[in-house]
Amino acid sequence: MSEQLPVIMVHGGAGKWKDERIPIGMKHVEIAAKCGFEVLEKGGSALDAAEVCTMYMESCGELNAGKGGRWNKDGYHELDAMIIDGEKLQFGSVAAVAGVENPISLARYIMEKTDYNFFAGQNARVLFERMLAEGYRERRYKRSLDPPVHVDSYDIETADTVGCVVVDEKGRIACTSSTGGIPKKTPGRVGDSPVFGAGAYANELCGASATGYGEHIMRVVMSRTAVLYVEQGLDVQAAADKSMKMFEEKTGSEAGIIMIDSKGNHGRATNAKAMPVTIIQGTVQSLVTEIK
Ligand code: GLY
Repeated sequence: MSEQLPVIMVHGGAGKWKDERIPIGMKHVEIAAKCGFEVLEKGGSALDAAEVCTMYMESCGELNAGKGGRWNKDGYHELDAMIIDGEKLQFGSVAAVAGVENPISLARYIMEKTDYNFFAGQNARVLFERMLAEGYRERRYKRSLDPPVHVDSYDIETADTVGCVVVDEKGRIACTSSTGGIPKKTPGRVGDSPVFGAGAYANELCGASATGYGEHIMRVVMSRTAVLYVEQGLDVQAAADKSMKMFEEKTGSEAGIIMIDSKGNHGRATNAKAMPVTIIQGTVQSLVTEIK
C-alpha cells in the first residue's frame, strides 16, 4: 500500500465567487471530501467514494449541482452529471434531467445497469423511476417538479460545476462532474459536465475533472487533453497547468481542472477568481482546503 493512497480531491466550481460565498464553498467541499474519504477508509472503492462525495455536494443546496443547481430560463432545474470508472474506461452520463436530487447516482446506474452510457431529458427521468423501483438508490428530492421559480430573483454570479477525482488503495481511479449548468440557460442546453473527455475523463493512469463554461471546455476536450499530457510524460501538475494554458489560449475563457494519477500524484489549475478545493491523502489528518 502506497502512503500516497487513497486520495480524494474535490472542487466546488471555478468562477467569479462572491467574497462572502467563498467560505461556504470551502466548507462544503471539505465536508464532501470527508464523506468520500470515510468510504475509502472503510474499504469502499474509488467509485463508491466519488459517488458519495458528489451526492453530498448535490444535496447540500449551496453549490451549483443537484438541489442547489442553477435554474434554466423557465425556472426549472435541468441537471447534468457524469461518473467515470477509469480502470474499465467506462462512464455513465445524464443530461438535462429534472426531478432528481442526485443525478450522479442515476449516472452510475446508467453505467452499471444498462447497455448504454448516456441518457437525456424525459427518458432519463423514466430511467430514474426504474432505478428507484429496482431499489438501486432511494428517492430523495422532488423540488424540480414543483412550479418554476422566478429566476430573476436569483443572483446569477454563482459558481460552476462540482466534481472530484478519487484513487483508492488499489490505485483505481474514479471521477465525477455534476452541475445545474450556466445561469438562465435555454431549456435543453447541455454543457460539458456529462460529456466524456470534456467535463471529466479517467483511464487506468490518470483522472481529471474540469469546471467552467461548458461551450468552451467541450471545444478543447479539456479533461481528456489534460490526461493525454500525462500519458505523454508530463507530471500531473505540469499537465494541469498546460491544459489550463491551452484552454485560455484557445478560448480566452475561465476554467479550472483537478487531476490525480494512479500513484496519488495530484495537480490542479485555474485562471478563475476562486475554485474551492479539498485534498485528503493517506489519512484524514492530511486534509487541506484552499480557495484555488
Ligand atoms: N460546466 C458546466 C456547464 O457549462 O454546464
